[in-house]
Formats: sequence, structure tokens, C-alpha cells
Amino acid sequence: MATHKLLLLPGDGIGPEVIAEVKRLIDWLNAQGIASFETEEGLVGGASYDADKVSVTDATMAKAQAADAVLFGAVGGPKWDAVPYEVRPEAGLLRLRKDLALFANLRPAICYPALAQSSSLKPEVVEGLDIMIVRELTGGVYFGEPKTITDLGNGQKRAVDTQVYDTYEIERIARVAFDLARKRRNKLTSMEKRNVMKSGVLWNEVVTQVHQREYKDVTLEHQLADSGGMQLVRWPKQFDVIVTDNLFGDMLSDIAAMLTGSLGMLPSASLGETDARSGRRKALYEPVHGSAPDIAGEGKANPIAMLTSFGMALRYSFDMGDLADKLDQAIAAVLARGLRTADLAGDGATIVSTAGMGEAILKEVQALHG
Ligand code: IPM
Ligand code: MG
Repeated sequence: MATHKLLLLPGDGIGPEVIAEVKRLIDWLNAQGIASFETEEGLVGGASYDADKVSVTDATMAKAQAADAVLFGAVGGPKWDAVPYEVRPEAGLLRLRKDLALFANLRPAICYPALAQSSSLKPEVVEGLDIMIVRELTGGVYFGEPKTITDLGNGQKRAVDTQVYDTYEIERIARVAFDLARKRRNKLTSMEKRNVMKSGVLWNEVVTQVHQREYKDVTLEHQLADSGGMQLVRWPKQFDVIVTDNLFGDMLSDIAAMLTGSLGMLPSASLGETDARSGRRKALYEPVHGSAPDIAGEGKANPIAMLTSFGMALRYSFDMGDLADKLDQAIAAVLARGLRTADLAGDGATIVSTAGMGEAILKEVQALHG
């Protein structure tokens, strides 16, 4: 059996608590001989700043480069509000994305049947929802230069962020999205702001060309990103795969998360280019929710997005889709029994702690396996 090297970066806030539930699952998989994972841990975000005055060290970056996959918890919190911008907790995550060239961020929003009541939207709007947001992750306004605040000397300052996209960046993310659509319901919606932004004009043009050249069998639709956001809450089931840039993807995926019942439900995979020779690709898996400092350490966090992020690692890095399916089934079963973490609380629910939820899901996986 191949041994897979995992780097665990729990980070800040609820990160360590939700990663602990993945460790529980990994320990069991190892003990049973179902899989062989070798794990190592590192610091990132505020935790790294406290120890080393940077949001991620070069040594940790080297470990991330060498790992088969990185499992990331969350970063940030009010404790680090005043640290210099360059070493703020989020900078660690952005360096991991950029240096590992993880340009493709997959954020699947799935509404488990038992949670249709938990969404702030009407159950019929979200029941059976299964959409995939593909967010470009290494370009756009997140990384564009110049990125500055200049003192104009007259009591005014000027802040500049730069939105920039090259053709190849749009082509490669479009291909990831078209490929995914082919394996799903064969429909792709591209979102940008071509009515205001030059980068939107190019985005639209390039996605259209890739479609014409390579993916004519997939249905392609374009929507302006603002209207797309509105459509996401009006009738989300019209979508299959959505492809969009870094900033719009950040916003649209938080919106999509609420369709699933809670931000604590949305996992993500950040993937690099597949190496033609080894067939391997760099990958980082993280829940979309943040560090939730207000509930950190209280056992209130929902570990499901972290667990399903590990499920995405099983699927996309380790070719263990069957096991990932079992994990999904186990989660659906536990939710159907009425178990809920605090974020999902509803009528007749049994509120359990982070560990309680993790244990219940593991028991269910064990039952499915035995
Ligand atoms: C996300 C987060 C990050 C982002 C932050 C923590 C830098 O909001 O992954 O969606 O803006 O990309
Ligand atoms: Mg975000």
C-alpha cells in the first residue's frame, strides 16, 4: 500500500479543533490498514506569528512542497489585528496558495437532505442542491501589483489594488471547470463584470474561445457576477459548475455556503497543475469557514467542512473516491439522525460538540465499512 504524506496545518481559532476530528479518522484508517497516511504538523497564521514572527516559515513551506497534500484548518483572529500587514495571519495562506501554484479552487456546495430546513432560504430552494464553484486562486486582485497605500502629502492617502489576468490563467481555470462540468451535469456558468472591468472583458472572451475550441459539448452560459450572486440566492439549482475569478469566487462561495445550511458545511480543494511525468499535482484542502475566534476552544465548531475537505483529498489526491463516498454517506446518516453542532441547531435537533460530531461520523464510517 502506498504511504501518503500529509502536512497538517491547523492554524488558529477553531482550526485545531476541526483538524483533530480528521486526525481521529486518519488514525482509524491507519490502524485498520485501510490506508496509510504519514502526518506531520506545522504552524501557520497567527500561531506561526506568535512562535516565529512570520505567518508561515520557510521550513514549513518546504514541508508543504514535499507533502502529497496539505490539510489546512483556518487562520486569523482579533489577537493579530495589529500585526504588520506583511505578516498578518492570512498572508501565510496566500503564500501557500501562490508558492504551491494552487490556481484551481474547487468549492462544492451540497445541501444534505436533513439540512434543507437549516438554510436561511426556503427548503424547496435548496433541497437537493449540488453545485461546484471553481474559483481562480493565484491571480486577480489578490496578487496583482501595484498593491500600495501612498501618502499624497495633502492629508490624503491613495490605496491601489490591481486586478490583472493573463490569457493563460483564464484558459487553465476554464479547462478545470469545463472538465468538471463534463463529469457532472455538463453545464458551466462563467461570472465576471465585463460591463465595468477590462479583466471581465478578457475573461469572457477567453472562456468563450476555450469553449469553442475544446468543449463545444458543454453548455456554457455567461452571467455578470452581481446578477450571478442574486441568482444564487433566487434559484441556485439552475447552476451546475460556476467559474469565476479570485475575488468574485471568494464572495460567491460564502453566499453558496449559506445555501447548504451553514458556513461550517463547505469544504474546498486547491489544486495545482498536474505534472505530466509523475501525474501528481500539488494540493491543499481547507474548509471555507474561517477561524471563528468567538467560539474557539468551546467545542462548538462544526467539523463537517474539515472532514469533507479531507474527503476531497481522498478523491482528488489519493484516488480513494469510494472511501470519500462512504464518508459522505456517514455524514448524511448522522445528520438524518438529528445530530447537529450549534451552527446547525434547529427544531428537535440534538446538539453535540465538535468531538461528539466527529465521533458519531467515525462510528458511522466504521459501520459502513464493517
Ligand atoms: C477564503 C478566505 C481567504 C480568502 C482569506 C482567509 C485570506 O476568505 O479562503 O475564502 O480571502 O481567500
Ligand atoms: Mg472567503
